Amino acid sequence: MKKLLAVLTIVCCFGVTAAFAADGGALYQKRCANCHRDGSESSKAGGDVVLKGQSVQEIEMKLTGYKDGTYGGAKKKTMERMVGKLSPDEIKALAGYIGSL
Ligand code: HEC
Repeated sequence: MKKLLAVLTIVCCFGVTAAFAADGGALYQKRCANCHRDGSESSKAGGDVVLKGQSVQEIEMKLTGYKDGTYGGAKKKTMERMVGKLSPDEIKALAGYIGSL
């Protein structure tokens, strides 16, 4: 019975995560905020970049660039790993969110 409950909990949590997959704000909190905080400050973990104030187009161009290898600085390997898992829809949602900060 305990096992069944554990399985149900896992299935349930993943279901909730999937529902928020294209929600830029939720996605940002989950995948990006560890390093970039709320986007308004630079931190070492976040590559000393400030995301706040950049336009939707800029962010989308940079994220796409990390994905296809046409953008990046000294620590681009970190971001290449981050965006490797994102779908084009998720990149759009994240750019929309960051652009609105
Ligand atoms: C493990 C820490 C870490 C996580 C998590 C992370 N980033 Fe980054 N991010 C960095 C670092 C380091 C850089 C600087 C990379 C470089 O030198 O090009 C960076 C750079 C960027 C840039 C380029 C900014 C500029 O002006 O050049 C954008 C945009 C960005 N991150 C967005 C995101 C988004 C969106 C997510 C979530 C999907 C994310 N990051 C998750 C560490 C992280």
